[in-house]
Amino acid sequence: MRRTRTILGSALGLIIGCGDNQPVQQSGPCAETDGECIFRHDTFGDEQLWTDTLRLHELVQGLSPTKALGVGLKVDASAVPANVLASADLEDPATTVALIELNAVVGVRGTVEAGRITRIGITCALCHSTVDNAVAPGIGARLDGWPNRDLNPGAIIALTPGLGTMTASLGVDQATARTALESWGPGRYDARFNQDTESHPVLLPPAYGLADVALETYTGEGPVSYWNAYVAVTQMGAQGTFVDEKLGIDIRHEPDRVTPMLPALRDYQFSLQPPAPPAGSFDVASAQRGKLVFDGAAGCATCHAGSSFTDAPKLHAPSETGMSTDEARRSVTGMYRTTPLRGAWSHPPYFHDGSAATLADVVTHYNTVLALGLTEPQRVDLEHYLRSL
Ligand code: HEC
Ligand code: HEC
Repeated sequence: MRRTRTILGSALGLIIGCGDNQPVQQSGPCAETDGECIFRHDTFGDEQLWTDTLRLHELVQGLSPTKALGVGLKVDASAVPANVLASADLEDPATTVALIELNAVVGVRGTVEAGRITRIGITCALCHSTVDNAVAPGIGARLDGWPNRDLNPGAIIALTPGLGTMTASLGVDQATARTALESWGPGRYDARFNQDTESHPVLLPPAYGLADVALETYTGEGPVSYWNAYVAVTQMGAQGTFVDEKLGIDIRHEPDRVTPMLPALRDYQFSLQPPAPPAGSFDVASAQRGKLVFDGAAGCATCHAGSSFTDAPKLHAPSETGMSTDEARRSVTGMYRTTPLRGAWSHPPYFHDGSAATLADVVTHYNTVLALGLTEPQRVDLEHYLRSL
């Protein structure tokens, strides 16, 4: 049975139930035409979840930068003056507060008053951006669209002081929810947990290379703006409208801070190119031979077709590629979308549930499940080809 309550649980339930006691309206930091700003900086008013319900600000107030980096949060070095960066005490929670005040924590946006975080929210960049580690691990220039596979959203939510309020609204025992959240691990999130209370986390996917991909999400739920609205309203806790009869979700907020942002947000995502493989990261001759295997003997190109390497909007039953049925079963489509492959080298592990650790494991998986009978040299060539995309 689908729940109409959303937002990782309670916040929207509370808000929907609160009648004329509507949350304070604030306008966002970005123009409706500025997709990059929206992607990086707009919380769409989701402070109603992260501050009012989960009380994330209390957690972050006491979190040293070392601990924050440990749960996968990233620091945008360009937002921090060089002398501050050089002298920062990474063991002192006050440094984290200063970084929040500078808007330097990727995907986290807070208000600091007299040294205390009073409001905090999250943005798309939290899960779909990382940094290039140019200054130190976790500190560097933003890489928009790259999935943050170090981020541990489940662990962060499990640590929030307001977890109990959220789980109560979901009708789940707090200890059960905490166990589920803590089991997800880095780079994984379950965007249906607060709908069906099952726990089958999927990998945070890239948000780049999607301009010519017809359907988004692992299970092909819909086009990019459909999914952006779903995530913003039902997961981030945004002040916005998302209605889907099939899912039994009907959330309306006035003013709607999400819908007007969707076109520019989509265009920005579509402008994000997949990263090219580093020079020397694959054997060129082997990759060329691998392309012939991909297109020919292995039959990969029958599904991974065209410039984006996907035949979407066509979808595939889990059995066609030997996938677990768990995620497909929970979705409306019941199927999986062929994943686009450009930039795949940059974001191991693979498959929606991370069941293949490396691209070599992907090849082994297909060779076994589809009984391809590829020789060892063909398998190596295929792997090098995948590393070249
Ligand atoms: C808490 C982490 C999190 C946040 C925040 C988040 N997403 Fe996602 N996003 C996910 C996960 C997990 C999926 C995979 C869901 C699935 O396929 O079932 C996803 C899927 C996507 C996809 C589909 C990619 C593909 O190839 O199928 C796009 C595009 C996307 N998100 C963009 C956004 C945008 C834009 C925002 C801000 C409005 C956002 N996300 C906020 C976790 C997040
Ligand atoms: C029947 C259609 C089909 C065929 C044939 C097929 N794939 Fe896939 N591929 C898919 C689907 C569907 C997914 C998504 C599965 C998932 O995430 O669980 C996928 C996922 C992948 C991924 C994971 C990408 C990521 O970012 O997680 C890789 C890599 C891949 N396929 C490579 C190949 C190779 C190499 C071959 C040939 C040996 C091949 N595929 C054959 C449909 C196909």
